[in-house]
Amino acid sequence: MSTVYLNGDFLPKEEAFISPDDRGFLLGDGLYEVTPFYEGVPFGFDEHLARLVRGLRWMRIDFDTSGLEAMHRELLARNGLDTAERALVYLQITRGAAPRTHYFPEGDVTPTVYAYAKAWSRPSDERWNRGFTAATVPDRRWSRVDIKSICLLPNAIGFQDAKERGADDAILVRDGVAIEGAHQNFWAVFGGTAVTHPKTNHILPGITRDIVLDEARRAGVAVEERPIQLEELTLADEAFFTGTTGEVRPVVEIDGRPVGNGRVGDVTRRLSDLFLARVEATKATAVAGAAMTQAE
Ligand code: PDD
Repeated sequence: MSTVYLNGDFLPKEEAFISPDDRGFLLGDGLYEVTPFYEGVPFGFDEHLARLVRGLRWMRIDFDTSGLEAMHRELLARNGLDTAERALVYLQITRGAAPRTHYFPEGDVTPTVYAYAKAWSRPSDERWNRGFTAATVPDRRWSRVDIKSICLLPNAIGFQDAKERGADDAILVRDGVAIEGAHQNFWAVFGGTAVTHPKTNHILPGITRDIVLDEARRAGVAVEERPIQLEELTLADEAFFTGTTGEVRPVVEIDGRPVGNGRVGDVTRRLSDLFLARVEATKATAVAGAAMTQAE
């Protein structure tokens, strides 16, 4: 049975109830985060938290985030996931429950805070090495998708359209530009340079994207942050997605046409290896840190 967190309590999921007046339910008035843990070690936690805090400020939701890391750890432990190879915590904060109005409710309304933990796994090497397919779909989202709001209907419709066309994933296209995936950032490789959309109000500033950019720069892999025109994709040598649950995910076919030679490319492999090495290094640092604390 899964244990979830709701408004300060850990309880069986079956006992977790949210008011029908919740503004997340009625208006999509809320934010979310998905934070990964590798063998119980948080990966990019501060960055996920910073993105959440930025979103809360922008939405003018007054919420103290200082207890969140402890809550994440406890939720994992209570679900027996504190040693899982890969686990994630989904956290959602809405403005709270109040009679429906379009403007913010007057008076004190307590935000609703809900979280669950689950294990996830990387595709097998065989599956990863085959690569994934994607279909381009219109980006029907609003103009503040840099805020990680729970309003994911356009993402869901985009993904569903791609799925119905037989593709594994969607690439959202706005004004002729391949912006990002439905739940991951998008990259293409041209002549050895890995290109991804710059951080604007039209993409979600992915934590995995930042980590891959950082690792690439340290390793001397050429990177560029600029819009990728849809027409350019026919010239791309490689393509891939980055995201918390996809890590670095190769894309070998877009709209039924092979990307480059249709196989997972060297730059994608290199960046995936660098990403996984960063995960291992983070785990090793955490283990060393814990040993030092014990010795003191
Ligand atoms: N998705 N772009 C979009 C639209 C996303 O929803 C996500 C994350 C990303 C990648 O961000 P990050 O590297 O920080 O995970 C990019 C989450 C995981 C989800 O909706 O489940």
